[in-house]
Amino acid sequence: MVESIFGSTPSAAAGSLIHRSDKEIAALAALAEVEAGMTVGLGTGSTAAFFVSHLGERVRAGFSIAAVATSLSTENVARRAGIPIIAFEDLATVDLTVDGADEVDDRLFAIKGAGGAMLREKIVAASSRRMIVIADGSKLSAAIGRAPVPVEILPFAREFVLAELRRLDAEPVLRIANDAYYHSDQGNLIADCAFASLPDPVATAAALSAIPGILGHGLFLTEVDTIYSANGGVVTRLDR
Ligand code: 5RP
Repeated sequence: MVESIFGSTPSAAAGSLIHRSDKEIAALAALAEVEAGMTVGLGTGSTAAFFVSHLGERVRAGFSIAAVATSLSTENVARRAGIPIIAFEDLATVDLTVDGADEVDDRLFAIKGAGGAMLREKIVAASSRRMIVIADGSKLSAAIGRAPVPVEILPFAREFVLAELRRLDAEPVLRIANDAYYHSDQGNLIADCAFASLPDPVATAAALSAIPGILGHGLFLTEVDTIYSANGGVVTRLDR
C-alpha cells in the first residue's frame, strides 16, 4: 500500500510551515499504530528518536503506555520525554516495537546496528507481537547487502571471531570511538562487516550465529512485520 502524507504541517506561527524530514514522517506513520495500554519497544537511532519524541508528547498529554528501551541512550531520552520505562528483564512479551534500520528491502529483510544496539534491538523485536521499521527512502534497497553487517563480539574472542569472519569472505572492521574500541551497552566489541555481496542473507545469518564469540548480528530476517518508508513526504508501507 502506498500512502501519501504531506511533508509539511502548519506551525503555531501563523503563515509559516514546519518542515518535517522523511525520518519524522515515517515515525509519525508508526505512531498512529500505538494504542493506549500497550507496552511499546523503543528503537535506537535518529529515526527512532523522532518516534520517541512524538510518543513522549502524547504521553505528556495523558496517553497511557509503558515502554522498554533498546539502548541506554534511548532509555535516557525516553525518560526525559516523560515516557514510563519498565525493565525489559521483567517482561516476556512486548506489544509493538518501532525501530529504525540501516537498510531494508521488500522481503522485509533489514540490516541494523549502525548505532551499536542490534543485540538488544533483536531481543526486543523477537519478543514483540509486532515490529515496525521506520526509515527514510535512502534505506530502501532492491536487496539488502549495501550496508555493512555489524556483529557484536565478546572481547575475549576478538581475534578468533575476526579470523572466522574473514573465512566467511567478510571484511570486518572493529568499530572505534574516541580513539579506542567502541563498546556496546553490554561492554562488547562491534565489528562492521562488509560483504562483497549478500546473495543469501539467511545462510549468512546462520553462519554468523554459529561462530562462538559472536553474541548477535545486524541481520534481521524474520522480525520485521511492517516497514514505513518515507520519501519526499510520501509514505510507502510494506507488510509481511
Ligand atoms: C541502531 C540501529 C538504528 O536503528 C539504525 O542504525 C538506523 O539509525 P538512523 O535512524 O539514525 O539512521 O539499528 O543500532
